[in-house]
Amino acid sequence: MDEFARFEGAKSAQYQHLMAQAEAVLKAESHWLPNAANLCAMLKAQFDWLWVGFYWVDEPSQSLVLGPFQGPLACTRIPYNKGVCGRAWAEGRSFIVPNVHEFEGHIACSSLSNSEIVLPCRDANGKIKAVLDIDSRDYNSFDETDAQYLAGLLALIQW
Ligand code: SME
Repeated sequence: MDEFARFEGAKSAQYQHLMAQAEAVLKAESHWLPNAANLCAMLKAQFDWLWVGFYWVDEPSQSLVLGPFQGPLACTRIPYNKGVCGRAWAEGRSFIVPNVHEFEGHIACSSLSNSEIVLPCRDANGKIKAVLDIDSRDYNSFDETDAQYLAGLLALIQW
């Protein structure tokens, strides 16, 4: 399959471009796993963030388990309510973290990460099945524009 060419432009235009590609790719497959893997690849190729990946909810162990990702080696498990990811799961909401060093309980999988965004991935019943975690080398990388477009991309996957 051809590689996606990086699209230059304003952030919202980049997301719109990505959304069109993602719709074509993700709607052709119903399983969350390959879709999550391909969404990581598309986001990493477009934005070149430090780390883009998913943590899957593992109810029996009450932890998040590392799923598909692109970027450096990462922590394999995050306990419920721990770190930004565990908090997003526990509180059922997204987190935009402009400076990870100021977030109490932040789990540093890479010392190169300075800002982060985490969004829950919900199934058709609204149950959280996974979280999307994105780390940036820069401070203040993420805002509501990211949160909105990323939520739109996550909605293309059947969690
Ligand atoms: N920073 C995350 C941990 C996951 S890694 O960044 C990939 C957290 O605090 O939950």
